[in-house]
Amino acid sequence: MAKAYNIAVIPGDGTGPEVVAEGLKVLDTAAAEFGFSIDYEHYNIGGEHYLKTGEILPEAVIQGLSEADSIFLGAIGHPDVKPGILEKGILLKLRFLMDQYINLRPVKLYEGVYTPIKNKTSEDIDFVVIRENSEGLYAGAGGLLKQGTPDEVAIQESINTRKGVERCIRYAFEYCRGRNKAKKLTLCGKTNVLTYAFDLWERAFYEVAKDYPDIETDYAHVDATCMWMVKNPEWFDVVVTDNMFGDIITDLGAMIQGGMGIAAGGNINPEGVSMFEPIGGSAPRYTGKQIINPIAAILSTQLLLETIGEQEAATAIEGAVKKVLRDDIKDVSAGKMGYSTSEVGDLVAGYIKSGKTGV
Ligand code: IPM
Ligand code: MN
Repeated sequence: MAKAYNIAVIPGDGTGPEVVAEGLKVLDTAAAEFGFSIDYEHYNIGGEHYLKTGEILPEAVIQGLSEADSIFLGAIGHPDVKPGILEKGILLKLRFLMDQYINLRPVKLYEGVYTPIKNKTSEDIDFVVIRENSEGLYAGAGGLLKQGTPDEVAIQESINTRKGVERCIRYAFEYCRGRNKAKKLTLCGKTNVLTYAFDLWERAFYEVAKDYPDIETDYAHVDATCMWMVKNPEWFDVVVTDNMFGDIITDLGAMIQGGMGIAAGGNINPEGVSMFEPIGGSAPRYTGKQIINPIAAILSTQLLLETIGEQEAATAIEGAVKKVLRDDIKDVSAGKMGYSTSEVGDLVAGYIKSGKTGV
């Protein structure tokens, strides 16, 4: 019998629903071509829903999401909601609740896509950042003392547990081995200043490395990592880092791979339910215009299928995306693609159907 998956869908705010529609179009096409089926359950949460109802993340939604095989998220964020409420109340809460301790972000420049880095091609920009996604500065430890007085103190602590760090590092080694490219894993940290947190990271890294003699290890401070990502991105194969540094360097990564219209990510619990999203946000000013690039959302479905074990279908999606980027879309920026959002989805789906995915 054909495999059937339950996928929870959170279209969310702004351009989220538009790009999610194209992701679902592509998922359906891939499922039909590769012989599996998908049932979707849509969840209406986000800024719009919060403003209407005051609800952020109802218990019933959490329950539904935790029963799915995977989650596909468009974007959460609304200009009329104070920063922090939705981020902490939905996105970060889901990552923590579902223990999605890996944030996987490929940085890959596809042929035909503009990079602001001179003289670098798709040969040079092809690495993956594995960001720890459940601890660090994001854990929410700390507080405000004497708030609003001249003696005010703000403390925000980075939490790094041996268990949390080690499972992330181990995942990174495994991923690097499976990827089978340069077989090089770089730890990105700040051992010269954050001498507690990155002392633990460094020790865990080199201890785990003993189990992976086939993987070359390397270390770079986070500031130097930013420099090398621009100057010599070809040095990287897989990079593992903490939550905050991972957040920052993956925005830089998104820019060198062609922008937010391309960058996809996965919040992964290797033993549980994972959640995939384009990392660009809700882009409110483009909402409803059908000009936003859906490729990041479509590439998120590729990561989703890889994670649930539909590798062939995932590869086909990436192949079709490669073809669209190389042959069809001339500029990946919103409004400059020469195609509408839904036409780009049609192009990708069309190539999957006709098997034109071997680029
Ligand atoms: C990301 C985003 C989030 C983060 C925000 C929206 C909380 O920037 O997914 O990178 O900081 O993790
Ligand atoms: Mn970010």
